[in-house]
Amino acid sequence: MSVRPTNRKVVLVSRPVGTPADSDFRIDEESAQSPADGEVVVQVGTLSIDAFIRTVLDEGSYHSSVRLGSTVTALGVGRVLESACDGFAHGDFVFGPLGAQTVARLPGYALRQLDISRVAPTDYLGALGLTTGVTAYCGVVAVGAVQPGDTVVISGAAGAVGSVAGQLARIAGATNVIGIAGGPEKVAFLIDELGFDGGIDYKHEDVGARLRQLAPTGVNVMFDNVGGDILDAVLEQIVEGSRVVICGAISQYQRMDHVQGPRNYLKLAERHARMEGFAVTHFHARFAEAEAALTGWLLDGRLTMHEQVERGIDAFPATLRLLLAGGHTGKLLLRVHDDTKIETNDVMRDEETST
Ligand SMILES: NC(=O)c1ccc[n+]([C@@H]2O[C@H](COP(=O)([O-])OP(=O)(O)OC[C@H]3O[C@@H](n4cnc5c(N)ncnc54)[C@H](OP(=O)(O)O)[C@@H]3O)[C@@H](O)[C@H]2O)c1
Repeated sequence: MSVRPTNRKVVLVSRPVGTPADSDFRIDEESAQSPADGEVVVQVGTLSIDAFIRTVLDEGSYHSSVRLGSTVTALGVGRVLESACDGFAHGDFVFGPLGAQTVARLPGYALRQLDISRVAPTDYLGALGLTTGVTAYCGVVAVGAVQPGDTVVISGAAGAVGSVAGQLARIAGATNVIGIAGGPEKVAFLIDELGFDGGIDYKHEDVGARLRQLAPTGVNVMFDNVGGDILDAVLEQIVEGSRVVICGAISQYQRMDHVQGPRNYLKLAERHARMEGFAVTHFHARFAEAEAALTGWLLDGRLTMHEQVERGIDAFPATLRLLLAGGHTGKLLLRVHDDTKIETNDVMRDEETST
């Protein structure tokens, strides 16, 4: 009799108030079931730790809320252990909504086969990831329509989406790319490693005053990941015809019942400017174009993705807290199983691993 693989999964037991606590989750262990017809069993390799995970822990989330007693939602990459679905075979690399667990059983239609001949599996979570590279591409190219010569400001700039968005703004021809991030090390990272023109440490500097120095002619595009006071400070300095891209508002995610809206929205009228929000899923028709462009820039070195990798499924709650507190730089990942860590020979990655 064959031994079934064991699945360790992170289950939501209570809805967090503010910062998620360990006691809001439970780790369950079970024997993974065989795949039913059309299903695939996947050894989860690496999970993408995304800001949206905090929002699905609440009731009534825009993305489907996690039910109490269910496995927490997460995107990830892994390898097929068993397949009862045409088109998937043992050992294939896949991407999908694998969940915060070590072994996932999903219908084949929920999974995507990955081509790892030119890029690493984790690139499909970071530089090419739906919630990272593709989101940044849609925000910069489709919504923000960054033009040559623009001054572009990015908030949450040293995180996953922000760090890609700043680099894409430069590729689109922006001549002044300014990132807002928490702490001098993150500002140095933006300038020294990602080639931003300037950085503002919102934890220690007056954002408005510093922005007047770094962007004396004003701001053409604001790519906002943060919301709240930072959005207001930048709205003050938009110019005629600016585009304000609402990608996210992480400063508000732990207080969704009393979100702080923009106080300075009248600047949009005064400056004939446009504020437009988006969810990456609205741009399904452009995913292939985005992935092709991002792959090209990743391979030719114009796009850098710094990955910070935490380890072990039991560290999921702590890793989510790390994301919300900004305790990471670049793309935050949780490695659940090492078998999927296959790097292609021709792709070098700048990776920081903490255990
Ligand atoms: N529209 C879409 O379809 C879409 C898709 C994916 C992601 N997003 C959004 O993109 C944003 C970034 O997500 P991500 O997954 O890439 O996470 P991330 O940027 O890697 O991590 C979140 C960052 O937010 C910053 N932060 C946290 N609390 C803050 C606060 N109160 N004020 C200012 N900054 C704060 C932290 O950096 P510091 O150390 O600098 O504070 C932290 O590094 C989120 O708003 C997310 O919802 C939108």
